[in-house]
Amino acid sequence: MKKIRKAVFPVGGLGTRFLPATKTLAKEMLPVVDKPLVQYAFEEARDAGIEQFIFIMGRNKNAISNHFDNAYELQTILGEKNKRQELEQTIGWLPEAGNLIFTRQQQPLGLGHAVWCARHLIGDEPFAVLLADDMVLAPQKPCLKQMVEAYAGLKGDGNLVAVQNVSREHTSRYGILATKDEKPQLVSAYDMVEKPKPDNAPSTLAVIGRYILQPDIFDYLDKHEKGAGGEIQLTDAIRAMLPGSPLFGFRFDGIRYDCGSKEGFLEANIAYALERPDLRDAMQDILRKYALAQAA
Ligand code: G1P
Repeated sequence: MKKIRKAVFPVGGLGTRFLPATKTLAKEMLPVVDKPLVQYAFEEARDAGIEQFIFIMGRNKNAISNHFDNAYELQTILGEKNKRQELEQTIGWLPEAGNLIFTRQQQPLGLGHAVWCARHLIGDEPFAVLLADDMVLAPQKPCLKQMVEAYAGLKGDGNLVAVQNVSREHTSRYGILATKDEKPQLVSAYDMVEKPKPDNAPSTLAVIGRYILQPDIFDYLDKHEKGAGGEIQLTDAIRAMLPGSPLFGFRFDGIRYDCGSKEGFLEANIAYALERPDLRDAMQDILRKYALAQAA
């Protein structure tokens, strides 16, 4: 089956790199400009044709499920003041009731474990995984939509992961592919390693947080084998599926921002503001001001 109907959003991480902001606030609720990271990921999935949205939650993440609900007091006040645009921003994007599923990962045992928590909800069909702190700015076509189309064009089934080249000193932050051939967009991989040191990395082609996976992955995740960092890694399950389930890296069109890091998060705010007609001029003024101050 080629249609991808379901997406998993692992949102149980502790967000320790953003303390103290994430002491009580879910890191996926941090806004880029004025929208939480998790809403960008949701909208990207929706625009790729996803119909069911599965959130793997941790404790203290209730703000996320509340964000996908009505906020009656606010809506009443906005309604009374006839603030249509603000009302639209509050609820205009909500999916139909019943299409959102929230489940709990009681312990943060790793990305592979988080995805495994969705096994009963996915059943026997290919599905997408989106990591909300990886943002992809792709004004032409959202990253996941590009992937869904590429997946539909594959001859057989297989696992498809979004990839981009990173500098060799950063390979230990990512899953890294060992590749057979280097076609411009779709790359065939024969191995994948989680967070290798630069000297051991088979390439510099890194996985970023968008995946289309076969449901057999749950057979491997069932084993709960620990990998890099003592965590149950998604990478290891994808690797264990080789060669039966081929692995493809997809070089997407767009710019990725690592909003799991402070630098990436700050840059995303600048980049997304520059994309916005209502903020572009102001952001350019700000950038000029600070560039001049730095040069002085
Ligand atoms: C996870 C994956 C890794 C991938 C990365 C992309 O790592 O385990 O393979 O390259 O996301 O952002 P994390 O960033 O959760 O440590």
